Amino acid sequence: MESGDTFWRDLALLDWQVELGADEAISETPIDRYALEPQAPKPAAAAPQKTAPPPVVAAAEVDPVAEAQLAATEASDLPSLAAAMQAFEHCEIKKGARKFVFSDGLPGARVMIIGEAPGRDEDQIGRPFVGQAGQLLDKMLDAIEMDRASEDPAKAVYIANVLPWRPPANRTPEKEEIAMMLPFLARHIALAAPDVIVLMGNTPCQALLGRAGITRLRGQWTEVLGRPALPMFHPAYLLRQPLAKREAWADLLDLRAKLKDLQ
Ligand code: URA
Repeated sequence: MESGDTFWRDLALLDWQVELGADEAISETPIDRYALEPQAPKPAAAAPQKTAPPPVVAAAEVDPVAEAQLAATEASDLPSLAAAMQAFEHCEIKKGARKFVFSDGLPGARVMIIGEAPGRDEDQIGRPFVGQAGQLLDKMLDAIEMDRASEDPAKAVYIANVLPWRPPANRTPEKEEIAMMLPFLARHIALAAPDVIVLMGNTPCQALLGRAGITRLRGQWTEVLGRPALPMFHPAYLLRQPLAKREAWADLLDLRAKLKDLQ
């Protein structure tokens, strides 16, 4: 039985192929792979690019005092100094203040008065010493024939504060706040170029003399940035301690005498 023989022979052949690993029928017709055109090898799949992790950039340390120093040095006149101070973002009290308070009076006046910081009234109006203490200051100046509204440099005064923004609830300025605004104040004095500086109270003494203690400092002439400077009681203190007006009057007379001497 020839057909039976063929069957067993084909089965044995199939077994042999399965043993060789040919376990799947792919095509009914054979393919002569030697006769095929050689094909260019497929380009290897591009290996996934190893992306370097983003560099860890250390937050740049900001030195507010150095930044203030740079900005202040670049200011060549009072308007550009005011603009530089207004653009300075490192003093936190700026956020709570309504107005930037730069100065009042006549730039170039012989006397520059330096106070502490704006209070509530100054914060609303944008000018230094306009509240109760400011009104007393005006009377004190009037007593020695000086006037912040005068256009005459001999009679006029120029007024600024250590800080141009009101501290919350009128608290005393902190040492860091004073330190970062000091380069602006020093530049302010240089640009206003007064003959004499009056330091009203402890805060300007702390800022410009490096020490407070107004009761001992008042009435003692000293020097600030190469200019004669006189510490005096702050008018707000005089409102609380009217008896101290006697010393304040003596200091005002001393100020007037100094201005005569320097002429
Ligand atoms: N006290 C200050 O020292 N400055 C002002 O401008 C107002 C009150």
